[in-house]
Amino acid sequence: MSEPGVDADGATIVGIDIGGTGIKGAPVDPVAGKLTRARYRLETPRPADVDSVTAVVGEVARHCGPADRIGVTFPGVVTGGVIRTAANMHPSWVDVVAPERFAEVVGCPVTVVNDADAAGVAEVTFGAGRGRSGVVIVLTLGTGIGSAVFLDGKLLPNTELGHLELDGTDAEHRASELAREREGLTWPEWAQRVQRYLRHVEDLLQPELFIIGGGVSKRADKFLPLIQTRTPVVPAALRNEAGIIGAALMAAQAG
Ligand code: BGC
Repeated sequence: MSEPGVDADGATIVGIDIGGTGIKGAPVDPVAGKLTRARYRLETPRPADVDSVTAVVGEVARHCGPADRIGVTFPGVVTGGVIRTAANMHPSWVDVVAPERFAEVVGCPVTVVNDADAAGVAEVTFGAGRGRSGVVIVLTLGTGIGSAVFLDGKLLPNTELGHLELDGTDAEHRASELAREREGLTWPEWAQRVQRYLRHVEDLLQPELFIIGGGVSKRADKFLPLIQTRTPVVPAALRNEAGIIGAALMAAQAG
């Protein structure tokens, strides 16, 4: 067993989750899959351009204390640390080599991964998808819709299922938590949209389990009982901490 807050090599790992509304971080015990201190959160600056967001990431990292490695999530496609898309962030992010950029402000090596992939990795390792084989899909409903697709616990990264078409537009414009708030939808109205979206995804990929994450997963009792799909649907067990924990876990694995 490792010390709390350090990985098996004795390194201190911090996870930072960049979301559309908040940037949250905490030191994480990547062996236990738990935060070792309360998370620290700052608002996502608007416009969410590279310099402003990087400065906030630096500030969150300072509050988390010294780290040997930091994992950071980003709400867009990330391949080999390079940001490829930034649907809900400023376009200045596209083509940025994010680990280098963040390392300048945090002063240690950084691993950068897609936000939903990180949340998904945390859920299949420690949460609602633990020990599940077959195809498991984690969907985060927040500012956008993020997706993480697993086969027998192994991630297929950057699946971006939030951008599937629903009602002639991006699914995330219709069925995200932001869409519910922006349009003032009742829970049943929104649940109908989420149900149509889930049915579309299950027709494409035939998963064995859907795990619903994002901030709204705290209120799963308001909408999950209203949703009927062939596939069982459960709320994320790690709730909104999944991104921080998954980021730290992926950084620990990369180190
Ligand atoms: C982005 C995804 C991200 C999701 C949730 C989408 O708009 O394209 O990469 O995972 O939002 O933040």
